[in-house]
Amino acid sequence: MTFLERIVGYFRENVEKAKGYEPGFQPRQADEVIKLNTNENPYPPSPKVLQVLAEMTAEQLRRYPDPQGNAFRQAAAEINGVQPDNIICCNGGDELLSMAIRAFCDESRPVAYPVPTYSLYPILANIQNCKAIETPFDGEFNLPAKLATTDAALTIVCNPNAPSGTFINVDELASLADELKGVLLIDEAYVDFAEANCTSLVKDFDNVIILRSMSKGYSLAGSRFGYAIAQPDLIAGLMKVKDSYNVDAIAITLATAAIKDQQYFKENVEKVKADRKKLIEQLRALDFEVADSSANFVLAKTKNGKAGEIYDKLVQRGIYVRYFNRPGIDDKLRITVGTKEQNNKLLSALKEILAGEIAFPSTSLRAKGSFRSQ
Ligand SMILES: Cc1ncc(COP(=O)(O)O)c(C=O)c1O
Repeated sequence: MTFLERIVGYFRENVEKAKGYEPGFQPRQADEVIKLNTNENPYPPSPKVLQVLAEMTAEQLRRYPDPQGNAFRQAAAEINGVQPDNIICCNGGDELLSMAIRAFCDESRPVAYPVPTYSLYPILANIQNCKAIETPFDGEFNLPAKLATTDAALTIVCNPNAPSGTFINVDELASLADELKGVLLIDEAYVDFAEANCTSLVKDFDNVIILRSMSKGYSLAGSRFGYAIAQPDLIAGLMKVKDSYNVDAIAITLATAAIKDQQYFKENVEKVKADRKKLIEQLRALDFEVADSSANFVLAKTKNGKAGEIYDKLVQRGIYVRYFNRPGIDDKLRITVGTKEQNNKLLSALKEILAGEIAFPSTSLRAKGSFRSQ
């Protein structure tokens, strides 16, 4: 019996059967490719972040970090117009999703969310062994009315939604929070690129949690830092679920410097928004159907439905976007807004591909599963 065969029986059944989350491809030689597949910010973090990184001391590394990341809580509270006890720090927004599902859901307490959306939600639900109630968006990604009537202990709305980039009005989410019996978690990982956010709902509703990420607007995906905003009782409950030292000393220091440098952050976000507008216009000119986006990516529908083939041809030229081989979105490509230069290279490649100037690779790259998520 092999080692793998022997350990099979050790796992809980649903962990055993789980496929696990498949992140967007992370090429080793990142400098040699154009990477528009995991919605990172194309610009570096604030120079102030690099300065505090250089000033870190051995003593800060020798000691455990502040378990609550209070320096960051203070800074984030000021910027969001709330109090520090409205904030919990987490090891990336993903950790908050995991904490919320562990805190609110189990076999008899389902999670609900509209689909298609962030593909991590069903994976976390499966590991927690809780039912996932998936209510489909309509073609325009409007909030499904059914979402308000489920018996879910936790409802998650990704806003702006991934992978559509669409935005649901704050008023609509306020009505949803009002109607729900359970908790409403609004995943605002991409909200820095939108025109509004739901922070104000925290004051009015004791069942609302807002998720924020430092990976996108603040260019800190490599550091792993996110946070949540909610009323103090919800925050105190989530504190019981988190790892004792869930955010490390370096991450707290970098995230605090980043969020304090609002001027740099705003300038970067405006650059991405301006380039997003141009990218959408140019993709439309190439006959892609592209909805307006409130995020740092766009979802482009191919006219011929052959998104998978276009994806393969882009990979052949060292350009990575995201293709989801899932019903409803398998005719689309999700493209992160890059620098002007990256966007232009992508557009020229698409022009050539659509004009049929490049021979299709003899061995399909799609066969090599690591390039694409399912
Ligand atoms: C919709 C959504 N929510 C949350 C996250 C988590 O981001 P992070 O863990 O990098 O903060 C991501 C990451 O891509 C995302 O796409």
